[in-house]
Amino acid sequence: MKAVATQSALNYIGGAWVESTSREHVRDVNPARSSESLGDATVSGPEDVVRAIDAATVAYPEWRRTPAPQRGDMVRKAADLMELRRVELGRLLTQEEGKTLPESLAEVDRAVANVRFAAGQGSRLNGETIPSTQRGTFIYTVRDPLGVVACITPWNFPVAIPAWKIAPALVAGNAVVFKPATLTPLCAAQVVQCFVDAGVPEGVLNMVLGPGDALSRAIVDDERVKAISFTGSNAVGRRLYAQAAKRLCKVQLEMGGKNAVIVMEDADLEKAAESVAGGAFGATGQRCTATSRAVVIRSRLVDFTELLAAKADTWRAGDGLTDGVRLGPIVDDTQLRKVRDRIEAGKREGARVVRDGSAPSKPDLRAGYFVEPTIFADVDSDMSVAQEEIFGPVVSILPANDFESALAVANSVGYGLSTSIYTRDLSTAFRYAEESEAGMLHVNIPTVGGEAQVPFGGVKDSGLGDRECGTAAFDFFTEQRVVYVGY
Ligand code: UN1
Repeated sequence: MKAVATQSALNYIGGAWVESTSREHVRDVNPARSSESLGDATVSGPEDVVRAIDAATVAYPEWRRTPAPQRGDMVRKAADLMELRRVELGRLLTQEEGKTLPESLAEVDRAVANVRFAAGQGSRLNGETIPSTQRGTFIYTVRDPLGVVACITPWNFPVAIPAWKIAPALVAGNAVVFKPATLTPLCAAQVVQCFVDAGVPEGVLNMVLGPGDALSRAIVDDERVKAISFTGSNAVGRRLYAQAAKRLCKVQLEMGGKNAVIVMEDADLEKAAESVAGGAFGATGQRCTATSRAVVIRSRLVDFTELLAAKADTWRAGDGLTDGVRLGPIVDDTQLRKVRDRIEAGKREGARVVRDGSAPSKPDLRAGYFVEPTIFADVDSDMSVAQEEIFGPVVSILPANDFESALAVANSVGYGLSTSIYTRDLSTAFRYAEESEAGMLHVNIPTVGGEAQVPFGGVKDSGLGDRECGTAAFDFFTEQRVVYVGY
């Protein structure tokens, strides 16, 4: 297997790739073979964040005055470049984050679709006219950018999430400070490079690499940052929200999930099992929309469990660049330990182990951070494996007597991101849609994924603020102003 040439990721500030003040670098490794170095990344501190915000502040007024359709054209070029670099970007994604090459390519495609959708909105940043109660008065609204905004993104979708935050932020007329995850700096740099090569002016998009905690704090404490779009854990999201509230900074939080698929008696069992396997093991379970619970009507429990176990056997683990591999590694050793700890907790709490993937089956998998498909059955709703986000290829099967109790189980978690039901009954499907406590509902469709033109986000502990993607993204990245004209 050919490794990528080692690269050094730098900050991008004021139109130039620059070293951080510390000049320190941290190693970037391939999670499929932790001894393989892909390169390194500069380690920034708060002073680098300030420099990035300085640059964005200077660039903002001119970018705001650039006609929105022109901003859209520039961003569309970034989408075209991303598409052109699809394979290169996909391979890098697999090497840096671990997901399989087909998954990486699908992620790049999704990024392209999102950037293109956002670009088109440049010509559709419409306001409205509203009739006045007074004679000789004309009232209209406009959508204005916010100013300097920050995008803080996770490692699990290191191309798509930055793309779907940065693109609408720019098209709306904001200047951006981008703080990507520490584990995926090279992907982040490539995303930025697409916007740079598309002609986005200097200072309009800036990137700062370094530890999440310190840099996020510097961002949230800086009065000049008018809004923060964050995707990551609930714990970090809460902290960010509390700090941002002190100075009334607008936030958008996309956090975790504990997503359930309800399998009804009349379900197409084959389809349901395929959906749960794909949702649970795809992207190695490292996505906020992962299926982590299957709530199954008792009469189908035995058959469903058998089917799911058989499907799990087909998820061969390995290096995501290898043909036939379906399951890439966990992203790093810290996450690996967390996933294993959660599996151990499930065993301790008395969940029945149908399939235990916590110790890799083949010796070559020990070179990386692998966990194989893991299935628990006879899980009670109050067990930790049924309540806490695991972020690994682990799924729990919970029995239910009827639709009402299945729905109650599905809703009995803190999170509310995505759910799904498998049924052929229209009335069950609509009742599910009415009563499910989640932001994204699916009937006979997996819990994962999302389309570029559709709002993405959750309720309860999963999300706060305006949705991402679709036109909703522009609700977050703009504010309305109202103009009364007396004539
Ligand atoms: C998906 O399910 O395809 O961090 C996207 C995450 C989500 C994106 C998931 N914000 O996993």
